[in-house]
Amino acid sequence: MERPDRNLKQAIGIFDSGIGGLTVQREIKSLLPYEDTIYLGDTARVPYGTKSQETVNRYSMEDAGFLMKRGVKLLVVACNTASAYALGNLRDRLTVPVVGVIEPGARKAVQVTTRKRVGVIGTEGTIKSMAYVNTIKSMDPEVSVHTQACPLFVPLAEEGWTDNEVAFLSAVTYLHNLKREAVDTVVLGCTHYPLLKGTLRKVMGEDVNLIDSAEETALEVGRVLMERGLKRTERHGPAEHLFYVTDSPDRFTMVGRRFLGDELGEVAQVSLEG
Ligand code: DGL
Repeated sequence: MERPDRNLKQAIGIFDSGIGGLTVQREIKSLLPYEDTIYLGDTARVPYGTKSQETVNRYSMEDAGFLMKRGVKLLVVACNTASAYALGNLRDRLTVPVVGVIEPGARKAVQVTTRKRVGVIGTEGTIKSMAYVNTIKSMDPEVSVHTQACPLFVPLAEEGWTDNEVAFLSAVTYLHNLKREAVDTVVLGCTHYPLLKGTLRKVMGEDVNLIDSAEETALEVGRVLMERGLKRTERHGPAEHLFYVTDSPDRFTMVGRRFLGDELGEVAQVSLEG
């Protein structure tokens, strides 16, 4: 159960539907090594990718509420589906800066595309929301955006099947249309997809840019902290990282290692009710 004594003042709050957001936490940790983080994975209610906008919105508000109570100075919506459906709402209601994963990935894609043909892959919800298409078009209306939901990539990444025949054949099947459209850039619009980068590279070829939303989001977090004068430096001492989940921590801790590329330390179970 949650240990109420454990809290960090002025940490970066990060939430995701479950384990996947650890890819974002990992990039933040590596780019901003003096920042404390508090991570919440809503493992009791994952996946968000197949749920309606209304439900994802409600869950996201509850996730954010939990982190706000812990006094975070900035909130990162690490989940692409939650960013796609709930970012506006969160920004309207919260008093701290809110960074989602869609804008940073979209911006990078617009910067690097050579023929203005961009592919976006994500969960069903992210693709259906049109969030990437609208954001990319608002940045450069001349870019043509081609999208593809790849729901099987989430369980494959969690199973650790990221570089085998099943992953390869799934990628060949899902990416067929994007290849036919001759996209020169593909945005990995889901927390889990960075783990499949090797396979996606094999299928799309060496010349296609693969945009890792997690990396771009960490850069954005760094920029926002700097702009607002909230960035911590060496003199604050070593960073601490707390992890909370809404279901039993066992699976999160085990599978999370692969997503984080490191040991997680202590993970506490919490209830978001009330
Ligand atoms: N975290 C989700 C995302 O990035 C993937 C897992 C889920 O469907 O909840 O969209």
